[in-house]
Amino acid sequence: MVKVALIGCGGIAKGAHIPGYKNIDNAEVVAVCDILPERMDEAENKLGKTVKKYTDYKELIEKEDIDMVDICTPNYLHADIAIYALEHGVNAFSEKPDTISVERVLDMKRAQEESGKHLMVMRNNRYWPSAKELKAMVENGDFGEIYTGRCGWIRRRGIPGKGGWFTTKEMSGGGPLIDLGVHMIDLAVYLMGNPRAVSVSGCTYNKFADSEDKGDSVHSKFGDAVEDGIFDVEDLAIGFIKFENGASLQIEFSWASNIKRETTFVELRGTKLGTKWSNGSYELYDGGKGSTFKNVFKKAGQYSKYKNIHGENLKHFVNVIENKEKPDFTIDQGVNMIKILDAIYKSAETGKEIIL
Ligand SMILES: NC(=O)c1ccc[n+]([C@@H]2O[C@H](COP(=O)([O-])OP(=O)(O)OC[C@H]3O[C@@H](n4cnc5c(N)ncnc54)[C@H](O)[C@@H]3O)[C@@H](O)[C@H]2O)c1
Repeated sequence: MVKVALIGCGGIAKGAHIPGYKNIDNAEVVAVCDILPERMDEAENKLGKTVKKYTDYKELIEKEDIDMVDICTPNYLHADIAIYALEHGVNAFSEKPDTISVERVLDMKRAQEESGKHLMVMRNNRYWPSAKELKAMVENGDFGEIYTGRCGWIRRRGIPGKGGWFTTKEMSGGGPLIDLGVHMIDLAVYLMGNPRAVSVSGCTYNKFADSEDKGDSVHSKFGDAVEDGIFDVEDLAIGFIKFENGASLQIEFSWASNIKRETTFVELRGTKLGTKWSNGSYELYDGGKGSTFKNVFKKAGQYSKYKNIHGENLKHFVNVIENKEKPDFTIDQGVNMIKILDAIYKSAETGKEIIL
């Protein structure tokens, strides 16, 4: 049985991680940590069992006999907690994004290598049944060469906790690019076979920070809004990534923009087949016979039913700790990810393409 300490008992811990553990037979949450005691009480209630409670994660890691920490705190703490756990011989699983700077993700990599323990970051979208099917098709060569793609997560209005930690650069690392970009850039790059990014360009915009509209945050269930708080991150980012194998990826992320509706998508173009994955479902496209387009494959709909993809990712990590599965994520993929995000912010600041 893998003994888990859940660190950070806010929205994602209660909404996805705790329900996830209920479906993992070989893991048990034995301790929780939050700086707000009421959050720990809520987590305990949701777990339906008594757990040890700590307001200081260091004390928890030092005192409790645990096999892994599950980090669900604001972004700027992910690296600190993961490294502290690894240095104390404890496996670390962190919510996304990996961390908020290239320097810290390299520190995480070093700590993982020195400890010999496992370190994994949430990549829940890989765990959609649809994503697994696409990955198997890519590996089978069904797409031919995937040479370009587009991906994004665009929201009409859905700023998480406006004025709180999500919109404060020092704590979040950025806006929708780091918050939502991690999800869809990862899915695209994963399906493309994890090529290394070599150059990046992008633009970021902040048009809703001073908006009077209290509805800007309504469609996000994450983070606590703070009246007159800080909003020094972007609300929209676009960009272009080139990879060492010549492939390219266009990206677009927004927390607020005047579009029809919120959507997530990964479009990939291969020499034999193309796909549009969106909100958990996908379609496949080829050229049809004689260019009549009658032969377009369609496979949408049956995957849209919600599955606890976060729980599936946690289950994988627990199985990796118990040597039942090989890790589907390496921290080098995290390094590649944070380098891409960091370079897009640098490109937006300088107006130049950034070579990685
Ligand atoms: N994978 C996903 O789909 C997904 C979705 C939402 C959020 N997230 C990620 O999960 C993390 C948490 O997001 P959230 O929406 O739950 O935020 P939240 O603000 O609701 O929860 C964060 C919790 O961490 C606690 N905390 C702050 N400092 C702490 C410390 N030093 N020690 C212990 N606890 C501390 C806060 O009190 C709060 O309860 C973020 O990194 C976010 O990016 C991932």
